[in-house]
Formats: sequence, structure tokens, C-alpha cells
Amino acid sequence: MNKLKLHVVFNLILAATLLSCTKMNDCCLISARLVIENSLSSPLAIPMVMNATNASFAAKSNIVTIGGNKLKTLSYGSGEILGPTLTINQGEELNIAFENQLTEATNIHWHGLEVPAAQDGYPTDLIQAGNSFSYNFRITNRPGTYWYHPHPEMATASQAYQGLAGFFIVTSPEERALNLPGGIYDVPLVIQDKRLAEGLNYNPISDDRSIGFFGESILVNGTPNPMMEVETQTYRLRLLNGSNARIYNFTLSNGMKFKLIGSDGGLLDAPEEVSNILLSPGERAEVLIGFGNLPIDSEIFLESATFAGSVSQGSQSFKIMKFKITKVVDDNFIVKPSLMQIQKISESLSVASRKFNIGHMMAHGNHGGVNHPIDGKTFNPGRRDEVVKSGSVEVWEFDNTTGTEVHPMHLHGLQFQVLKRTGGRGQIQPWEKGWKDTVLAFPGEKVSIIIRFPQNKGKFVFHCHNLEHSDAGMMLNFEIQ
Ligand code: C2O
Ligand code: CU
Ligand code: CU
Repeated sequence: MNKLKLHVVFNLILAATLLSCTKMNDCCLISARLVIENSLSSPLAIPMVMNATNASFAAKSNIVTIGGNKLKTLSYGSGEILGPTLTINQGEELNIAFENQLTEATNIHWHGLEVPAAQDGYPTDLIQAGNSFSYNFRITNRPGTYWYHPHPEMATASQAYQGLAGFFIVTSPEERALNLPGGIYDVPLVIQDKRLAEGLNYNPISDDRSIGFFGESILVNGTPNPMMEVETQTYRLRLLNGSNARIYNFTLSNGMKFKLIGSDGGLLDAPEEVSNILLSPGERAEVLIGFGNLPIDSEIFLESATFAGSVSQGSQSFKIMKFKITKVVDDNFIVKPSLMQIQKISESLSVASRKFNIGHMMAHGNHGGVNHPIDGKTFNPGRRDEVVKSGSVEVWEFDNTTGTEVHPMHLHGLQFQVLKRTGGRGQIQPWEKGWKDTVLAFPGEKVSIIIRFPQNKGKFVFHCHNLEHSDAGMMLNFEIQ
């Protein structure tokens, strides 16, 4: 390249930087829609349970009234919104006959599971309206709380927002031997914010595309203003942040501590007492909450506390759901001091390290409006961005040092471990000590993860789980060879 060309290239880069900076400044001024709190009194819905070894359901649209609002929802199966909780034992084979009764193409992605590439809901592997597909693969994941949702290119955010999501729970004899609270004391809770007054239409304007589509109403399991009656017992709650963009800093209104027992990829080594858990979209945490010392009729709230680190959200605290003590029983549950072993992947095994700049923004992109690139690139299904070897260990770093937005980074088809975080919060959080598939990088943070790539070969995606960001192209490919 001669000097003149270099000069032109330099100026182009400068211009692009300036353009993105103006946009970044705009972006810093945008904040998330505030949550509106009502009194919490609607009985919490619990999704029906289906065994995933032999299940069938369709994606369909419904006109329903939820919390007094007439909504057009999407659901998997017979419910008004969301889908059944699929359960399976580790080692068993999943068999799901899926039918697309929507008027648009869709697919299913098994978030957190090790899945053959052709079954993982790659963004361009679509099931057209009216067609069917049968999902079939063996479950190798540890016992834990996973989930499933659609993943079509540029339509994941709208379909998930309108109601397509469900829990996927893996169990095993080893887990059952721990005697954790079960049955009605084992409660999955998916937390999502919606714009109920707008009929659940997904109609993001440019600001929403930039920071995410936020709702003013918090729904748990599809129930607005939720309340759950509880006994003076220990409950196992499985928290899933199923929101498009909102982060929750879970805490209890009476300041009570609770025990963190699981993360994205299942149970931790040992329970850890915490007073808050911060989950970004896609992340899960399992907790034990003991209501044993509370008097009858008392009410405590699961809340989201304020948090620092993001300009667009975190400045508001709000109630998420209410627990009301309605029955006094003896709580003699004691959690075992060790849960399920986690083998640390040693950094010395790593054969490659890759760094991704996620802190940059482009004002104009081919996906319309603001683009959030990864290393300057946005999603292209025809490209192989990263090629890795099955069975090999690598260290990946997500660098949001220069960023102004929060990015929960997620890899498909595997679980990883968080190695370190520098800048911002500066350390690994308690809920990041186990297996993970999604990790949050605040502006100013650099997060490193260690990955052992599974045997499933083929092309997978990794992306920001702010669904507006990923739909705008904040998603790249990695191919396992
Ligand atoms: Cu829940 Cu591609 O992700
Ligand atoms: Cu996923
Ligand atoms: Cu993002």
C-alpha cells in the first residue's frame, strides 16, 4: 500500500470514529423506560411440565387478556404465553415434534445445551410457516436450568418478546440425591418486562434499537403483578432473565440473605450466601430461600435493586413479585455443604486466545439504524469468523473498555467458565463461579472466559443477548472442526 492510500484509509477510519462518537454521546443520554409498580396480587402462573423425551407442541399466536390488557401473544403449546417447562434426565434423548403455526418463519434454539449444529436453531435454519421439524439429540449437560426460544435472523427479539420462551430443566440421580426442595417447592421464575398497554406489539424506535426494548410492566411466568403464596419452608427458585434488554439486580425486600446454588450450567460446587444477584438477559441463577422465620401473613418482595455501571439502566429499584406467607410448617431443610463438583479448566491447557472488541458502535449499518459490531463486524451467515477445534481449550476475551453500553455475551452449544474480569466490577461475581453460557460486560470491563469446545462439529453463533443488539447484527459465527 502506498502512502497516499494509507492516508485515505486513515481518514476513513477517523471519520468512522467521529461518526460513532457522536452516536455514542446520543446513546449515553437515552435511558431505559421506567418500571411502573402496581400492587402485586395476581396468582403467579406456573408453566405446565412436559417430558422432553417425547413431546410435541406448536408455536402459535393467541389473542388473550392478561392483567386486563388485550394482547396478541405467541406461545409454545396450549398456554396463553410462553411454553411448557421441558424436563429430561442427563443422558436421555430429546424428541420433540415441533410445528410452526405462526405466519412467519421460526426455529428453536436450546440455550445453554450442547447441541448438534443442525439442531441448534442457527439464525438461517428456519422452519417456514405451516411446516414442522423434529428435534432430536442426546442431553449431555449437567443438571440445571436451561431454556429455549426462537432464533431466526433479525426476528429473535420480536418473537421472544411476544412470548416464545420456555424452561428446559435437566435432572439426574446424582442431583436428586441432594434432596433439594422439589415439587411445589421447586419454582421456575422467568422475569420479563413488557409494554402491556401497547398490546405486546413489538415496535422498537431507533432509541429502543440502540439500548434495547424495555417495558414498563414486569411479568413473572407471564403474570403481571405476580404474587405467590408460600409456606414457612425453603424453596428452590430458578431465576431466568428472559427479558430482551433489562438487567435485574435480584434482592429481597426485608434484606434477608439467600443461598446461591446454581448458575447457567447447573449446580455450583457449594452453596454461597448472597444478598443480591445481578442477571442480564439470558442468564440464570438457582437460589434457596428460607421463609422459615417469617410470621404468617407477612409479605416479602423479590425486588430489583439499583446498580451502577450502566448509563441506560440501574437507577431505579422496583418490586418484581410478592411472596405471602400463608401456611406455617416446620422447615427442617438443610442444604448439603457441597453440591456438584465443578472441574476447573486449567488455563495451561489453552491452545489459543482470541480478543473481541465489543465496545464500539457504528451509526449506520445494513441492519437499519445503529449497529453494535463485534470487532467491527456484524452478522453474516455466509462467513466463518472463528474456526476452532473440537475438544480444544481456548481463552476468549470480551473487551468493552471503550463501550458505553452493557453487553451480555453468549456462546451457543456449550458451557464455559469465567476466568477473570478487569475494569468496572473488577472481579468474578458469585454467580459466575460455576458453568456459564452468558457473561455480562459492563462498559469499562474486560471479561475473559475459558472454553473447551464440544464434539459437535459445525457452525454456531456467539452474540450479545441484548436481543435488539443481536438482531441488529451483534453476532458472529464460530465453526467447530
Ligand atoms: Cu438465548 Cu443465541 O440465545
Ligand atoms: Cu443460546
Ligand atoms: Cu449488546
